[in-house]
Amino acid sequence: MFVITLSVIKADIGGYVGHSSMHPDLEAKATECMASAHKSGVLIDYHVTKCGDDLQLIMTHKLGEDNDRIHKLAWDTFVDCTNVAKSLKLYGAGQDLLSDSYSGNVKGMGPGVAEMEIDERESEPVMIYMADKTSSGAWNLPLYKMFADPFNTIGLVISEKMHDGYAFEIHDVKENKKIILNAPEEIYDMLIFMGAPSRYAVKAVFHRPSNEIAAVSSTQKLSLIAGKYVGKDDPVCIVRCQGKFPAVGEVLEPFAFPQLVEGWMRGSHHGPLMPVALHDANPSRFDGPPRVIAAGFQLADGKLVGPVDMFDDPSFDPARDKANVMGEYMRRHGPFEPHRLPLEEMEYTTMPQVMKKLADRFGDL
Ligand code: F6R
Ligand code: MG
Ligand code: MG
Repeated sequence: MFVITLSVIKADIGGYVGHSSMHPDLEAKATECMASAHKSGVLIDYHVTKCGDDLQLIMTHKLGEDNDRIHKLAWDTFVDCTNVAKSLKLYGAGQDLLSDSYSGNVKGMGPGVAEMEIDERESEPVMIYMADKTSSGAWNLPLYKMFADPFNTIGLVISEKMHDGYAFEIHDVKENKKIILNAPEEIYDMLIFMGAPSRYAVKAVFHRPSNEIAAVSSTQKLSLIAGKYVGKDDPVCIVRCQGKFPAVGEVLEPFAFPQLVEGWMRGSHHGPLMPVALHDANPSRFDGPPRVIAAGFQLADGKLVGPVDMFDDPSFDPARDKANVMGEYMRRHGPFEPHRLPLEEMEYTTMPQVMKKLADRFGDL
């Protein structure tokens, strides 16, 4: 047995230019912090990358999930990078560090966290998805397709190891409740929740009957910090592949359909989730459209062998073309729904002020 934890912890600690991308000095500083933790023996391995304006720390270690040392390491790294961002006057320096000091766990403090403790298999391929300009519910549709839809994943039908299905842990992020539902027999119940991704988001998927972790996302309860809901933005997701889990091609396949997700400009619009190569994860048009990247790794005794940039493949060109056509179509709605989000879901709103100003001009019908 070789039990390790794969932790992906991410934060937006300053954009370059605006909210579009990340300055190389921030990645360099993060790499320096990770290298020193590696040297001191805390980390087995690490990989630093970015998706849009989000800095991604991919780490392997032996300390388990929710570990104080690992979370503090990520926090301190984000603080050091924020200082670099401040010196360059980057946009929104430290925007996801919502507390002045670290208090035991980065969850609910701004950064996003996806972690899984696993017994590393003989060969352990993992896919790490990272998205910008959208929220955790964006993983619902792809996770459903990967682990419950035989039209996407033929392994569910013809692989003996997958034929018993998967269990989905779904979180009600507003009421802070969770439920576990089993595919395939409960998919109709499951979809009533998963199909409403602004409130219900898949936190994890488990293989049945072994109960082994198959996927985990950065979904967390929405906490009200500084008068603003946090835990919503720019999520990550780890998916194990092959054998008792879907094949690499089966976990990538859902992204060939650029589903409409919440996010985009001012976190207040619906737009297509475009699968792109790492070097194309720099949302520009109308601060978007939302992007997703996929970094594939093989784990070797905790070492991160990779990544392979999985969407850097011409077979995803039609999805990108479609996303751009869909994006254009949605944009033509301008400030109207369904491009603009429903009132209660918008990150920015002037509704209270406008209502106050016009209150005495509203009359009964
Ligand atoms: C969306 C996002 C951007 C900003 C927009 C306005 O997640 O980060 O679309 O909301 O650029 O930013 P501020 O209010 O910082 O000028
Ligand atoms: Mg930003
Ligand atoms: Mg972002």
